[in-house]
Amino acid sequence: MKTYRIAVIAGDGIGQEVIPAGIEVLKVAASRGAFGCDFTEFSWGSEFYLRTGRMLDDDAFQQVMAFDAIYLGAIGDPRVPDHISARELILPFRQRLRQYVNLRPMRLLPGIASPLAGRTAADIDMVCVRENSEGEYCGMGGRLHVGTPDEIAEQTGVFTRRGIERIARYAFTLARSRPRKLLASATKSNALHHAMVLWDEVVAEVAGEFPDVTFRKYHVDALAARMITHPQTLDVIVASNLFGDILTDIGSAISGSLGVGPSGNINPDRTAPSMFEPIHGSAPDIAGKGIANPIAAIWAGAMMLDHLGERSAHDAILRTIERVIGDERVRTPDLGGRATTAEMTKAVTGLLAA
Ligand code: NAI
Ligand code: MG
Repeated sequence: MKTYRIAVIAGDGIGQEVIPAGIEVLKVAASRGAFGCDFTEFSWGSEFYLRTGRMLDDDAFQQVMAFDAIYLGAIGDPRVPDHISARELILPFRQRLRQYVNLRPMRLLPGIASPLAGRTAADIDMVCVRENSEGEYCGMGGRLHVGTPDEIAEQTGVFTRRGIERIARYAFTLARSRPRKLLASATKSNALHHAMVLWDEVVAEVAGEFPDVTFRKYHVDALAARMITHPQTLDVIVASNLFGDILTDIGSAISGSLGVGPSGNINPDRTAPSMFEPIHGSAPDIAGKGIANPIAAIWAGAMMLDHLGERSAHDAILRTIERVIGDERVRTPDLGGRATTAEMTKAVTGLLAA
C-alpha cells in the first residue's frame, strides 16, 4: 500500500481547529482508497516564535524535504507583527521549496448564497493560477534615511522570462484540461510598461503552444470588475503575485465565505514538497470557540491528495463537501447556520465513509 508522508503545520488560531478536521477527513479518504497518510506535526508558528524568537526551526527546510506534501493551517497572532509571521514562515516556504504556482479554485458551491444577486453555482467556477515566487512580492528593496524627513522606501518587482513562461504554461495546461478551455491573463501593461509588457509578450508566446485554449488578456482593474459583473465568462485566470492576491480575495468574497476557499502552493517540478492550505487566516475573533468552518481546510486536503496522484479520493471529498453544503442542515455560523466545526466535520466524514 502506498503511504504518503505529510508534514502538518496547523499554526495559529483556527488553524489548530480546522487542520485536525481536515486530517479526520483525509484518514477516511485514505481508508476508502488504497493508500495511507502518515502525519507528522510541527509546532512552528506564533507560539513557537513567542517561546524561541523564531517562527521555525533553523533546519526547517531540510526537515520538510523528507515529506511528500505539507498541510498548513494559518499563521498569524495578534501578539506577533504580521510582517514577521508571514515573511518568516509562509513566504520563505513558498520561495525555498520552489512552490512557484499558487492555485486557487473559486467556486460558488451549490446552496451557498453569493453576495452577487441572482448568481448560482453555474455562474462562479474559476481557478486562479497566481505566480508565487517572484514579481511584486519577491522581497527586494530597502529603506534609507529611516525616520528622517528624507526617508525613502523602495519595493522592487522582479519578473523573469523563465518565471513568466513556467506560470503561463501551467495555466494553459490547466485551462486545456477544463471543459470551457478559457484563459484570462491579468496585465497592466499600459501603466507598468517594463514588467507587464514582458509578461504580455511571454504569455502570448506560450499561447501559441495551446491553440485549443481561448486566450484573452485583460487589464487587472477591468478583470476585477468583470469578476463581479460577468463571472460566468471566466474560467482560468493567470496573474502575477500581487494581482493574483487581490483577484483571489474578490473570488473568495463572491463565493460566499472565506471559510470555504482552499489553495495549493505547488512545485510542479516536484523537486520539493508542495504545500496546501485554506486561504483564510487564523481568525483570532473566533479562535477557540469551535465554530470555524472546516470546509476550506478539508478542500485543501483534497487538493493535496489530487497532487499526490489520488484523483478519485479528491473527487469523492469534493462531492461530499457539495452534498453537505447543499443539504443546508449542517452549517457553521459564517454560512448562516449554528453548527460547530466538529458537527460539520462529522457530516463530511459520515457521508464520505458511507
Ligand atoms: P482571517 O481570514 O483570519 O479572518 C477574516 C474574517 O473571516 C474573520 O472575521 C474570521 O472570523 C472569518 N473567517 C476566516 N476563516 C474562517 C473560517 N474558516 N470559518 C469562519 N469564519 C472564518 O483574516 P484576518 O482577520 O485579516 O487575519 C487574522 C490573522 O491571520 C492575521 O494575523 C493575518 O496576518 C493572518 N493571515 C494568515 C494567512 C495565512 O496563514 N495564509 C492568510 C490571511 C491572514
Ligand atoms: Mg490575500
